Amino acid sequence: MSVENEALWLDSPRATFRVGPAPRPRPGPGEVVVRVAAVALNPVDAVSGFARRRFVYPWLSYPAVLGTDVAGEVVDVGDGVTSLAAGDRVVGFATGQERFRDSAAHGAFQRFTTLAAEVTTLLPADLGFTDAVVLPLGVSTAAAGLFQPDQLGLALPTAGAEKRGETVLVWGASTSVGSNAVQLARGAGYRVVATASPHNHDLVRSLGAAEVFDYRERTVVQDLLRSLQGRTLAGTLAIGAGSLSRTVAVARRADGTGRVASAYPTPATAARRLAARPLGVHVSAIWGGTPAQNSVGPAVFSRFLPAALTDGRYRPAPPAEVIGHGLAAVPAGLERLRAGVSARKLVVTV
Ligand SMILES: NC(=O)c1ccc[n+]([C@@H]2O[C@H](COP(=O)([O-])OP(=O)(O)OC[C@H]3O[C@@H](n4cnc5c(N)ncnc54)[C@H](OP(=O)(O)O)[C@@H]3O)[C@@H](O)[C@H]2O)c1
Repeated sequence: MSVENEALWLDSPRATFRVGPAPRPRPGPGEVVVRVAAVALNPVDAVSGFARRRFVYPWLSYPAVLGTDVAGEVVDVGDGVTSLAAGDRVVGFATGQERFRDSAAHGAFQRFTTLAAEVTTLLPADLGFTDAVVLPLGVSTAAAGLFQPDQLGLALPTAGAEKRGETVLVWGASTSVGSNAVQLARGAGYRVVATASPHNHDLVRSLGAAEVFDYRERTVVQDLLRSLQGRTLAGTLAIGAGSLSRTVAVARRADGTGRVASAYPTPATAARRLAARPLGVHVSAIWGGTPAQNSVGPAVFSRFLPAALTDGRYRPAPPAEVIGHGLAAVPAGLERLRAGVSARKLVVTV
């Protein structure tokens, strides 16, 4: 008997993953079904244990199919989709884990999945699936933080964006979210200053940052303030443990909007937001899935990225490291992700 589809199932928040048969998805209006060639792994997939899973996605129905980052070939096209056709090579943001979707048919970790066309990007012929698949959640989270009006509210990236006088600070720029934030902010015309470990400074510069500082350096806040003298700070993206207190210290003293968007919200973030307000700093918490529900997702995934990837203005980063083949290789990859990576995206071919 041929199996129509196969998925990496999570039967309950307490369960371990298992590979098993799954229904072959059918595209709804505005959706495409993709034959998955590669998936990338993210910290949100690596959350383990009942309490943590319930905390991060309390709404999720089980059995669930996790995963957000998919590259593959379009095999079915739903009503109303005009931008994509069967046979197209694409990368897209799988939203099965999102509260508004909560659907196993839309999770990444399976052979066939369903993507919303508006957050799916047509790939140039010379860009491989394993390279491209590093993009979706990193792009979506960075775009949410930079461009949504409830976050930094910056101008969107466009083909011929004029250089702007203002600077964006990306703290944690060698992360997946940060690598995309640097490039998206540059694509919108902003100057970027960043932090990362010294061994990743060349990478972050190559993505477009004008200056990069070591976030572990005791003097990093003063160093950033010195580099921002005479400039306007349009906004700050705070990524990684410990990023919020130090980015608030920069934002309160630099000339600029005083806006800080945190990709690392913790239970303490709400208290920090209140404490930052009298200092003239506005802290917001990012949820990486929100662009799939507003105009930022289509602006970046459908309108900006296809041309920017084709002409080399945008490059998938951090680089992919293929760690195995087949859905059964995902759990070991998640284990490795929990141990920590540096400027690498773990990828599994399917
Ligand atoms: N809010 C959301 O919806 C959302 C969505 C996606 C991710 N996130 C969060 O955003 C963070 C980054 O996720 P990711 O997938 O982009 O991570 P990632 O690529 O797996 O992160 C690895 C990188 O983290 C950097 N790093 C480690 N500790 C750091 C610190 N204290 N400060 C700054 N950078 C640090 C390391 O940089 P160096 O090697 O250069 O030191 C390394 O390159 C995670 O905390 C993740 O949970 C949130």
